This record gives sequence, structure tokens and C-alpha cells, in this order.
Amino acid sequence: MAISIKTPEEIEKMRVAGRLAAEVLEMIAPHVVPGVTTGELDRLCHAHITEKQQAISACLGYHGFPKSVCISVNEVVCHGIPADDRVLKDGDIVNVDVTVIKDEYHGDTSKMFIVGKPTIQGERLCRVTQESLYIALRLVKPGIRLRELGRAIQKYVEAQDFSVVREYCGHGIGKGFHEEPQVLHYDADDSGVVLQAGMTFTVEPMVNAGDYRIRTMKDGWTVKTKDRSLSAQYEHTIVVTENGCEILTLRADDTIPAVLENNA
Ligand code: CO
Repeated sequence: MAISIKTPEEIEKMRVAGRLAAEVLEMIAPHVVPGVTTGELDRLCHAHITEKQQAISACLGYHGFPKSVCISVNEVVCHGIPADDRVLKDGDIVNVDVTVIKDEYHGDTSKMFIVGKPTIQGERLCRVTQESLYIALRLVKPGIRLRELGRAIQKYVEAQDFSVVREYCGHGIGKGFHEEPQVLHYDADDSGVVLQAGMTFTVEPMVNAGDYRIRTMKDGWTVKTKDRSLSAQYEHTIVVTENGCEILTLRADDTIPAVLENNA
């Protein structure tokens, strides 16, 4: 299937959906503290999305996923299922992944929270993962090959002695949760995709402190690092502009501007 180029009207709807997804992460931040359960965090996100935002969680019921957000703690790479017996403690690193649908369009974003007192490794892994996302976003502009993003992420992450998960990738997004293209976070054979203004996609590197290999648990969802090392992920939804990109899911705590002009 071809990669869709969004119209200005569609991009405006994606700005709305992206802002709502980002707002869920801003809302939940003060609640991610020692003693809270991931089940409680999910309920707060669900109520915010459905009642305050009058939006839909794209995750709830997606291929049978039972909750409204994914919450992945420590060695969980992604797709962690929120649970009332999963209590957070000092030093845990926690990814909350939110996808909302508003007026038919999707906004998809995730970030790491460090619970209570950070560990040195946890803090460093989260910082490197966020920076790897920013490095990729700073490259985006019409005419560059999509491959350059994955290549840059992998180069930076491996120079920090961490590894990039191979099995999951970013994705085109719009009316569909997962559209073309696939956005790899490591270097691979060139797919031939060249960026054009109006493309909308996510970039969402998953970075492991140890080996890049993963295992899916018996619940069919929870993905862990094979070696049980820590894993982190950050995700933004972006639109390619005439000379860079616009981050549609920017939060107040991001340290990068919403509009990037990549004239280099
Ligand atoms: Co995504």
C-alpha cells in the first residue's frame, strides 16, 4: 500500500489527536509514584480519555488488548498490561504508551517515567533513548531516505553501549493506527522510502540496556528483554513539513521545539 500524504485538513485533525495523546502523559505524570499500581494509572488514563477528552483509546480492544494504555516496567520492552497487583517502587522505569482517536484520526505517543529515586542506569537508559528519538527527528525533512533515521538511532544507541530492539518499529499513522511505512530504528536494507511533506508517522525507538533480543510472555502481550535487562522507549507522532517536521505529540517536558527546521 502506498504512503498517504495528508491534506492540511487531515494534519489539523492529527494535531488535535496528537495534543490529546500528549496531554494524557502530562496528566498522569504526578501519579507515577512509589506505591501506585499500573492498574490505577490505566484507570486514570481511561477516565481522562473517555470523559474529559471525549476521545477513544485505540489500544482498548485492539487485537483483544484488555486495557486503555500499555504500561511497561523495567525489563518489559512494550505492551505491558496494566494490573492491580503491579505496584511501582523507587527506581522503577515505566513506559506509558497512549494512542487516542479523535474525529477519526490517531495520535500515538509514549514516554518514560522514573519512579521515586532514580537508579544511575535507569536514568541513563531513559536519557539515551529520548535523545535517540530527538536525533532521528532532527534529520526529518523532504528528500531524505527513511533509512537514515534508523541508521542514526542505532549508531547513537550502540555508541552508548545499549542496543536497539529489532522486532518493533514506528509506523505511518492517520485514520489508521498502523499505516505505511514501517519506520525501523536500526539500519537495514533500504526500503526505498524517501520522505515527503505531508507524511505522518511515528518514531518510537525501544532501547535495551543489555542484549537487543526479546521474548513475548505467555499472556501473548507482555514483551520482555531476553536477558532481563532494563528497556526504555520514547515515541512521538510527527508530520513532515516543507523543511523539517512538526511534532504532533509534544509535551511540556520535551526539550525539543515542536517545529524543527532541518536545513543542514
Ligand atoms: Co506507535
